[in-house]
Amino acid sequence: MGDLFNLEPKPAPAGPVECLGTTFPNDEERRKHFLGILREKLKDPEFRKIEGFPIGSDEDILALSDPPYYTACPNPFIADFIKHYGKPYDPSKPYSREPFAADVSEGKTDPLYMAHAYHTKVPHKAIMRYILHYTEPGDVVFDGFCGTGMAGVAAQLCGNKIEVSSLGYQIDDDGTVAESNRGQNARTISHLGPRRAILNDLSPAATFIASNYAVPVDAKAFALEMSRVMKELADQCGWMYETLHSDGKTVGRINYTVWSDVFSCANCAKEIVFVKEALDRKTGSIRDSFPCPHCSAESNKDGLTLLYETHLDRVINQTVSLPKRVPVFLNYSVRGARYEKHPDEKDLSLLERIASLPLPEPVPGISLPDMQMRRVGRMQPARIQYLHQFFLPRSAQSVGIAWGLAQRHANPVIRQRLLFFIEQAIWTASLLNRFRPTGYSQVNQYLTGVFYVPSQHAECSPWYILDGKMKRLAKLFGQYRPRAGFSAISTQDLASVCMLENSIDYIFTDPPFGENIYYSDLNILVESWHRVITANRTEAIVDRVKEKTLLDYQRMMTDCFRKYYRVLKPGRWMTVEFHNSKNSVWSSIQEALQRVGFVIADVRTLDKKQGSFQQVTSGGAVKQDLVISAYKPNGGLEDRFKLTAGTDDGVWDFVRTHLKQLPVFVSKDSQAEVIAERQNFLLFDRMVAFHVQRGVTVPLSAAEFYAGLVQRFSERDGMYFLADQVAEYDKKRMTVREVLQLQLFVTDESSAIQWLKQQIIKKPQTFQELHPQFLKEIGGWQKYEKPLELSELLEQNFLRYDGKGEVPNQIHSYLSTNFKELRNLPKDDESLRAKGKDRWYVPDPNKAGDLEKLRERSLLKEFEDYRTSTQKRLKVFRLEAVRAGFKKAWQERDYATVITVARKIPENVLQEDPKLLMWYDQALTRSGEDA
Ligand SMILES: C[S@@+](CC[C@H](N)C(=O)[O-])C[C@H]1O[C@@H](n2cnc3c(N)ncnc32)[C@H](O)[C@@H]1O
Repeated sequence: MGDLFNLEPKPAPAGPVECLGTTFPNDEERRKHFLGILREKLKDPEFRKIEGFPIGSDEDILALSDPPYYTACPNPFIADFIKHYGKPYDPSKPYSREPFAADVSEGKTDPLYMAHAYHTKVPHKAIMRYILHYTEPGDVVFDGFCGTGMAGVAAQLCGNKIEVSSLGYQIDDDGTVAESNRGQNARTISHLGPRRAILNDLSPAATFIASNYAVPVDAKAFALEMSRVMKELADQCGWMYETLHSDGKTVGRINYTVWSDVFSCANCAKEIVFVKEALDRKTGSIRDSFPCPHCSAESNKDGLTLLYETHLDRVINQTVSLPKRVPVFLNYSVRGARYEKHPDEKDLSLLERIASLPLPEPVPGISLPDMQMRRVGRMQPARIQYLHQFFLPRSAQSVGIAWGLAQRHANPVIRQRLLFFIEQAIWTASLLNRFRPTGYSQVNQYLTGVFYVPSQHAECSPWYILDGKMKRLAKLFGQYRPRAGFSAISTQDLASVCMLENSIDYIFTDPPFGENIYYSDLNILVESWHRVITANRTEAIVDRVKEKTLLDYQRMMTDCFRKYYRVLKPGRWMTVEFHNSKNSVWSSIQEALQRVGFVIADVRTLDKKQGSFQQVTSGGAVKQDLVISAYKPNGGLEDRFKLTAGTDDGVWDFVRTHLKQLPVFVSKDSQAEVIAERQNFLLFDRMVAFHVQRGVTVPLSAAEFYAGLVQRFSERDGMYFLADQVAEYDKKRMTVREVLQLQLFVTDESSAIQWLKQQIIKKPQTFQELHPQFLKEIGGWQKYEKPLELSELLEQNFLRYDGKGEVPNQIHSYLSTNFKELRNLPKDDESLRAKGKDRWYVPDPNKAGDLEKLRERSLLKEFEDYRTSTQKRLKVFRLEAVRAGFKKAWQERDYATVITVARKIPENVLQEDPKLLMWYDQALTRSGEDA
């Protein structure tokens, strides 16, 4: 980060402080006052009933909280915070932004980002670009799945000149932030100035980290106190990490001890110390097979039996049988130099002595609930049933003592920061930390996203883990100084956050994705130390053990998005970051977004190789990271729609409003991009979704819609524009060479039609010309999708010129511009007719209507076959037929048909197709089946 935050750190103000409209003599008084209110509130049983209220005693919750800015429970001050610092929604104030996408992995090496680990994080630097694009200083940003609160950090740093210019923007003297690469004509992006943030997460471990980035601290005092804790820790448990050097007299300090599981040989039943026999220390890998040191029989890890031994567990006062582990070697330091040795008698007896000590009071002894993370990652053979069993006795001692030292600190702000510091040792100090012979260090060598208990464990000393972190944190907080009162953080289910309607200016969010990560399972390892644990009933994930299905996930996401929709100001934007996940999860997210009222305006993926963004147009097929831009339609549209719903006027009002939100021109390297959302079929899909989600019949067929588009809007390069947009497009279009077509993958009937359209719209072609190209494209045809002949596709969707009468316009303009000899000929000229014969072309909107009717009839006939079929599951079918059938049945309120056929098609197909999912979901809701 260098000197990015090179502001002189100032201690927190000692004088009067203003908070939520009241002035307090100092910050201590502010804290006391709000803690008093929170203490009272905690006694209210109704307050504790709020969904997602963490599991913890009043005292433990109060100890973590710093109200009104942070509460380790639902934050009762959020609404007040927005009232005081936000701006009320004013429909007369113009606001207009285009959807925006930027690299969400930018800034992953920034020290601030790296200061604290969490499962999947979006760097604050990446979020800053979004906040600058969508907001102005003083706006309020919201992230309800905030994790470590990077959105809050980003919001604050939009007021930091050095940080903003590090993004490549130029800042004028008046605070205008502009693109810096265009000299005089630099496009204005925003203005320099911090934004306020509302942050929320279900997990107290997450919000605790977020609060430490949001609340200012006296950096010098913090640095001093970290050293004091480390020194005190050394005084209290330094003896546990001493070992004798090879000279027999110098005492060395242990950096880490490598422990190994012990197995028994399948051949001779004697003991095999795994690390000694199986681990190749040069490559760091496990040998495929290795000989038994006793009988030389070759074996591999799977062929061995893990050995157990019994211990008296003093925390639970029971004998337990745990894997036999032995120390294999120690890495230690003497006067700055590092050495290795095998443990000697003294080392072993030291370990025995430590094992006999009672554990320090802070070490959590809670039993681990049943959870998915206990069923995977070698947790079963490891037999960890209680929290403290994640730690070998010496680590439990040292982390326990360190935690106690931090906890007892008198200054509440420093105390939080010290716990934040010690907390970072927990994962590495646990048995999850692997020994990685090739690793630069043995710190943070656990597998992320899982409790994986390795057979080779590096048990690190607290100094080895924390010394480096201490220096980095001291530096970081010396430079990064959050401002008091710019974030308010709550811990609860997002759907239950209490906030005023239409109060938020922008939402950036990175939600959980299906079954990617079991947050609450994993967070218990840290939360149990705080004694405040996630209440995970509404954790929005797919969870096998808690029996949360994809449908449950979608329902929870819908509830969360509904909250987002409610609190966002009309006409404002939300960015959803989507991590690589299953297509079905992507469909669920789209359905949830649209169901609550959002309109999706742009979906992009970062092409890592090219470093540029590509639009994503197909519903499924998205096994990559996406940036989704969605907006809440402005109040005007919703109000007008109430009056015009179900009429042509309602349709065109929606389209007009939607077009206003879309980018007008996108170019890169002298090429313009087709803006997917401006194409007729995507506009149609959005319009249908807008109606369906509001329970309104769609009054136009696709062909009628397409014909209406042509009449009302200007068409350029296959895209539609409003009158004032088209002038801008035309002007910019002249500055580029060509328009880049979107890449289409043919996987089914619908994409095949789009592909054919792309081929023949500019160049009408014959069957013979198209056929070889078509065959090349259909390699990825879905196996459930009924194969269709090219002839069938052409006949049902396009027109062929039979050589009689006038050559159709579409063919005429192609021939006359591409063949010199065919220029300026009348349309019924013999040679023109001969050249045009048998070419397929895209019908004009009027003829398209007739074709569509015919096609729909045949699709519905097929659908009827599916409905009446006695097959329990249809193996091969036409997705387009199912879509057409669902649409018709839904319009006729025949929900039973939708549900019956939905249950006949494979679940993954239903879940991965956003359109089918929409009809099905609607049918379930309207028939009352999803209660
Ligand atoms: C992908 S993470 C967010 C990470 C974050 N962007 C960061 O930079 O640290 C998703 C978060 O959603 C939280 N979560 C899951 N279900 C939730 C719910 N119903 N309400 C609020 N938060 C929830 C999880 O605890 C997790 O921290």
